[in-house]
Amino acid sequence: RDDLPTVSLEELQDHDGTGPDASVWVAYGRGVYDVTEFARGAHPGGDKILLAAGGDIAPFWDLYAVHKTGWVYEVLEELRVANL
Ligand code: HEM
Repeated sequence: RDDLPTVSLEELQDHDGTGPDASVWVAYGRGVYDVTEFARGAHPGGDKILLAAGGDIAPFWDLYAVHKTGWVYEVLEELRVANL
């Protein structure tokens, strides 16, 4: 996904759902994902997704291993907007 812009950790952290536009980004590896819309209703795990807002989802997915399957990674990649 080298076609995507590179953003800093600070930019990621700014998108924690509390900013002026209330957008929610999360990171997984080097990928940055805009989950603003997905978090509003589409996430089967509800509001819990917001615990990871502006940060890394890996520790949460270690806890909720339901995510560690091929199709969930596909859902995630569709939401990718940038690289770290
Ligand atoms: C379930 C996606 C982040 C907690 C799911 C499922 C998907 C999903 C597709 C359904 C899995 C299945 O039924 O096989 C995502 C995506 C995330 C994300 C794309 C981030 C970009 C999180 C985070 C947490 C979380 C950060 C916790 C802090 C849960 C829980 C379930 C779940 C508890 C199980 C819900 C249930 O079946 O009752 N998630 N998730 N998720 N997610 Fe997430």
